[in-house]
Amino acid sequence: MARTIIPGQEETHLPAAVEAFQEARSVVAFTGAGISVESGIPDFRSPGGLWTEFPPEEYATLDVFLRDPAKAWRLYRAVGKKLQGKQPNPAHHALVGLEQAGRLDLIVTQNVDGLHQAAGSGAVLEVHGDHRHVQCLRCDWLGPVQPEQRADSGEVPECPECRHPLKPNVVLFGEGVREMEAASEAMRRCDLLLVVGTSAQVYPAAGLPAIVKEHGGLIFEFNQEETTLTRGAAGGGWSWLLGGTGATAVQTDFLFLGPASRTLSLLAEAVLG
Ligand code: APR
Repeated sequence: MARTIIPGQEETHLPAAVEAFQEARSVVAFTGAGISVESGIPDFRSPGGLWTEFPPEEYATLDVFLRDPAKAWRLYRAVGKKLQGKQPNPAHHALVGLEQAGRLDLIVTQNVDGLHQAAGSGAVLEVHGDHRHVQCLRCDWLGPVQPEQRADSGEVPECPECRHPLKPNVVLFGEGVREMEAASEAMRRCDLLLVVGTSAQVYPAAGLPAIVKEHGGLIFEFNQEETTLTRGAAGGGWSWLLGGTGATAVQTDFLFLGPASRTLSLLAEAVLG
């Protein structure tokens, strides 16, 4: 059963969490859209989230891009607008503080907003790609997003090399995720995983926390509600995809309940003194 910590309300278990953190040999963070909500970027599955406006099966699959790139670009431009000019929030900065103190080895993020890097994090794996580049699936050309590509022209940008329609360098449903071998290796080696702002519903990335559990590691979850990870629901079964045994359902050890800017700052301040 997860021990719950609520900043300013229920901090009885904080000393035990800090002690476990201090004893950890290798700490990794696994982040999702929830860490960027307080930067003004909506998440996907909360009420009013991005998938409410653009159902993913209708806009965010590789098949839709190949069949109707102009339609797919409506989603890409909408996301681009939501990311434009957004800044890191205290949750991103708390992870930078831990990294700079040598207490955080890596961030594995599902986010494409680049806010971890903008905050100053150095070791970041973007398993779902990034929204800062566009790519050509035919000739593998990759380049930075150009301002005119953000405009609502309705045009589909073409590859400068082979004229094929370009897509953002973001992993669409039906595409392979990125950096999963490195991410899985980091999960095997770490003994404490900070899971921040993810509903942990999209595999294979959502199978990463189970690997930590299978190797005897702890999970600190930072969310504003309980998730399937918290309650120890299914999740372990998928870890065999990533080199795990698939035997262990995930069970959060400490649940930091509330907005990530407050919960992560509370832990970082307590750990860094
Ligand atoms: N602080 C902490 N947690 C928050 C906050 C906040 N301020 N705001 C929202 N959350 C939580 C939500 O309660 C939810 O559990 O963050 C989680 C966001 O879940 P999703 O919207 O499903 O986003 P994510 O888990 O990152 O989605 C994973 O799904 O559609 C794909 O590619 C997309 O990378 C994305 C993947």
